[in-house]
Amino acid sequence: MICDNDRVMIYLDHAATTPMRPGVWEAMAPFAVDRFGNSSGAHEVSRKAKDALEESRERVAACLGARPMEIVFTSGGTEADNLALKGPVTGDRSLGVVTMATEHEAVLETTHFLHRLGHPTHVVGVSRDGGVDPDLVAGSMGPGTAVVSVMTVNNETGVVTDVAAVSAAVKRIDPSVLVHTDAVQAAACESLDVDRLGVDMLSLSGHKFGGPKGAGVLFVREGTRLEPVLHGGGQELGRRSGTHDVAGAVGLATALGMAVEDRSRFRSAVGGIRDDFEKRVMEGVEGVVVNGGAGPRSPHHLNLRIPDVRNQTLLLRLDQSGVAASAGSACQSGAAKVSHVLEAMGLSPDEARECVRFTFGWTTTQDEASEGVATLIDLVGELR
Ligand SMILES: Cc1ncc(COP(=O)(O)O)c(C=O)c1O
Repeated sequence: MICDNDRVMIYLDHAATTPMRPGVWEAMAPFAVDRFGNSSGAHEVSRKAKDALEESRERVAACLGARPMEIVFTSGGTEADNLALKGPVTGDRSLGVVTMATEHEAVLETTHFLHRLGHPTHVVGVSRDGGVDPDLVAGSMGPGTAVVSVMTVNNETGVVTDVAAVSAAVKRIDPSVLVHTDAVQAAACESLDVDRLGVDMLSLSGHKFGGPKGAGVLFVREGTRLEPVLHGGGQELGRRSGTHDVAGAVGLATALGMAVEDRSRFRSAVGGIRDDFEKRVMEGVEGVVVNGGAGPRSPHHLNLRIPDVRNQTLLLRLDQSGVAASAGSACQSGAAKVSHVLEAMGLSPDEARECVRFTFGWTTTQDEASEGVATLIDLVGELR
């Protein structure tokens, strides 16, 4: 439950953003107030900030099975994705990117931008269930492919990609091609061990796992050639200039540690709540379809097509009834834009406009999910 202005909402939009986990704000606050130093300075005030930054880097690295120097702090997932795709190809227009049609806009729009600059790019399709075929991805590479970017968990459907299998297929053909994964939606539920995943780069965003907004990470494997996107004072070993957001880094590292520790409980508890919600919808709403439901899926996403019900109308009625859900990625909800993810999975624009996304998280209780699904079933009955 989220209480704001005396209105109690059932919050089922955790893929858009999550409430901070207890203790995260308290861990961050000193670095916004008393320990406000610039972590790049040389005096005691700076050193306190620098120590906290480097300790956060170590904690993030430990969660990924990486080395601290392989962690680049960014302003979020969008910046991490931009750096992962632009960094390896900047300065050489013969180098390009292969990615998937269901990626987040932070990857897809960056790919389109590189294409407009003259870099070779290729966007690979997915199956009707949103599944990624590793051999199809590897087979789509050309002589100029420098980066293959495949997300771990899809933000709209929760479809999980076997990133290790994609990486193996890519590296079999050309070990010098860099594999990037946008793991922004994955931290709460999937292992992020970069060696097990076989990735050279991995993006994270603090606000998707109980941390602060505006704080992200790009893991960059040692030895990876990367031009910065932001030039300036040379922070982050020259890979990302700008005065550090120490409070943000502390908050992200604290929340990530908690998410990793809580992962198996999250998978069973939140997954159980989602499965029960799904079962009740299937029983209570005729003709409902789970998008991406046939393959591996994260425990906290549920993307439903409810035939003959327009999603914008349903979302409005849910909102009025105290249930917060969405139609897809945060930048799309509210607008009448059709989801590119659902279109890539073969849905027509009209079918995609019948889809709503419910996403569950660490605050979700069985009681509120039960109330949410009962409200949904009633509203669908009314609207039909
Ligand atoms: C899969 C994915 N990638 C990237 C982003 C962008 O992250 P941020 O909001 O930190 O810029 C999001 C946010 O919705 C996301 O879901």
